[in-house]
Amino acid sequence: MSVAEVIKSIARIEHVRVDDVKVVYENGVTALDGVKLDIGRGLTVLLGPNGAGKTTLLNVVSGIVMPRRGKVVLNGILNLLGLNDSNRALVRRLHYSYLIQEDVFLEHLTVLENIVLPYKLFKMDPPLDYVQEIIEALGINHLLDRRPTGLSGGERRKVSLARALVKAKDASVVLLDEPTSNLDRDSIEVLLDIIKQLRRDKVVVIATHDQLLGDVADVRVYLRGGRVESIS
Ligand SMILES: Nc1ncnc2c1ncn2[C@@H]1O[C@H](COP(=O)(O)OP(=O)(O)OP(=O)(O)O)[C@@H](O)[C@H]1O
Ligand SMILES: [Mg+2]
Repeated sequence: MSVAEVIKSIARIEHVRVDDVKVVYENGVTALDGVKLDIGRGLTVLLGPNGAGKTTLLNVVSGIVMPRRGKVVLNGILNLLGLNDSNRALVRRLHYSYLIQEDVFLEHLTVLENIVLPYKLFKMDPPLDYVQEIIEALGINHLLDRRPTGLSGGERRKVSLARALVKAKDASVVLLDEPTSNLDRDSIEVLLDIIKQLRRDKVVVIATHDQLLGDVADVRVYLRGGRVESIS
């Protein structure tokens, strides 16, 4: 079996082991140093001050940032970081949903086209009923035909969130970087409800400064200066 076939044969990822990861950026900043974490199904929340390494850790878990040292082992068998670029991308495409910290869109496409973009890019059919459900839950129906340029900060965040939550339906690893940033109280409630459902059977990892999310987590990981300070 080829590596790609092995990746395709994985039904779901139930466990992610971050093993002794060290990340040094080109400017010489050590963003993570000796990070070890066992992440299972349920909600793991990454907490810690600005610059602690939360986003970097999500980028390593998703195979976007390659550390100087360490492994990310999926289901106890597959080292994500040992795969080539296209196989790491295949893992992300088949098994991950990732809300990145910034709102990045193709500005010439409509909001709706941006929401289903991950499916279009991979020539897959988007789950349209679920797309509609998420759009209604987040209250962004009236924005679907607009371009992202000109949306408010909170509206842009909701569009990013919709894209990630739709993709999360088919994913077993869901990574959300600051999902509540810019959101109003009602939208945060909606998001909490969706997270409650996702955490039942998926590996959900959220980087946040929002104590609300910290309070409902199964596991809280405190990062500081690129190291795990404590786990509770
Ligand atoms: N692309 C990059 N190039 C150079 N340094 C970087 C890069 N990305 C992050 N860093 C540095 O790495 C450290 C960790 O950054 P990271 O973005 O992971 O922190 P964070 O915990 O997500 O912070 P925040 O709460 O502000 O989002 C910081 O010192 C940051 O300046
Ligand atoms: Mg961050």
